[in-house]
Amino acid sequence: MILVTGGTGLVGSHLLYRLVEQGQTVRAIFRNARRLEKVKKVFSYYSSDHEILFQRIDWVESDILDLPSLEAAFSGVEKVFHCAALISFQPNDYFKMRKVNISGSANIVNLCLQYKIDKLCYVSSIAALGASNAQQPVTEDQDWLAEKQTSAYSLTKYGGEMEVWRGSQEGLKAVIVNPGVILGPGFWRSGSGAIFTMVQRGLNYYPSGRTGFVHVDDVVKAMTSLMNSSIVSERFILVSDNGEWKDVLKQIAQGLSSKVPKRVANRCVLGIALFTDALRSLLTGKQRRITKSSIRSMANQTLYDGRKITNTLGLNYLSLRDSISSCCAFLLKES
Ligand SMILES: NC(=O)c1ccc[n+]([C@@H]2O[C@H](COP(=O)([O-])OP(=O)(O)OC[C@H]3O[C@@H](n4cnc5c(N)ncnc54)[C@H](OP(=O)(O)O)[C@@H]3O)[C@@H](O)[C@H]2O)c1
Repeated sequence: MILVTGGTGLVGSHLLYRLVEQGQTVRAIFRNARRLEKVKKVFSYYSSDHEILFQRIDWVESDILDLPSLEAAFSGVEKVFHCAALISFQPNDYFKMRKVNISGSANIVNLCLQYKIDKLCYVSSIAALGASNAQQPVTEDQDWLAEKQTSAYSLTKYGGEMEVWRGSQEGLKAVIVNPGVILGPGFWRSGSGAIFTMVQRGLNYYPSGRTGFVHVDDVVKAMTSLMNSSIVSERFILVSDNGEWKDVLKQIAQGLSSKVPKRVANRCVLGIALFTDALRSLLTGKQRRITKSSIRSMANQTLYDGRKITNTLGLNYLSLRDSISSCCAFLLKES
């Protein structure tokens, strides 16, 4: 039996589809039954038998912070894919992120040890890697360096990795993947999916930075291949291409026949946007859409080297251009 956390999210739902399609016995945890509709939608993209495939999953209501319900989900499990996390650039979410991304991961690691699980795959992020100042791309060996500007999300994903390495020291077989920005269909209002809907609505400005990107199918392929291999205690950056936001947003806009953002968001524009958004949040009580942390992340110039997974397991990535076209085609079908 395979246990998946975060199955109602972008990565988890695609992973669940691939696992049940392969005929694996799968259990997944969920917190809110309404979120299961998201998983059904993802399944419907790939198969006319989606209802039957969805019914094959043993769904258990649990929160990774609720030990009794989580422990119940571990009974009879051999492998664990830990995809659950809180992704946020909201300043107020720091303590919530610490709980979910660090304490929640510690709970998973402790139960893996207690239940003598064969192997754990933890989904970390490029946000948990050290930054490089030079033109040299960051590899899996880059030293971590927390700075004043390091985002709360980065700190907590790094903390989650530390729990996994601690588990390895205590005898747990584990692998870690560090994906870049994950592109995939189905979650258009949150995370990376929201980039597509924002561009569809029309953007005037693009951020000045660049980052690493990867398609969700490649993340799932890497995770399942690593779990079927004898590789343990290693981490793998999953990045097909490093892309400038300017080019990425342009390709998305072209794919959706939307307005291409033409002007770079300089310090002055960003300052006004930050102030206006903070005011909107204050007046409406709604979450901030732009924060100092998200601005810093989008101005980042770090390059990432995702070749280790190709050299080790022969995984060939879908190119960034094809990932964008594929996502645009899914979104246009739904619009
Ligand atoms: N998306 C990206 O671009 C990206 C890039 C690099 C790394 N990652 C990492 O990849 C993993 C999956 O990301 P994603 O994009 O699939 O995220 P997502 O779509 O936001 O899904 C997050 C999942 O975690 C679950 N979750 C959150 N808090 C939980 C808790 N306390 N107990 C149980 N489940 C909880 C959510 O459940 P609900 O549905 O109930 O909220 C959801 O299933 C995360 O570890 C993330 O850090 C993502």
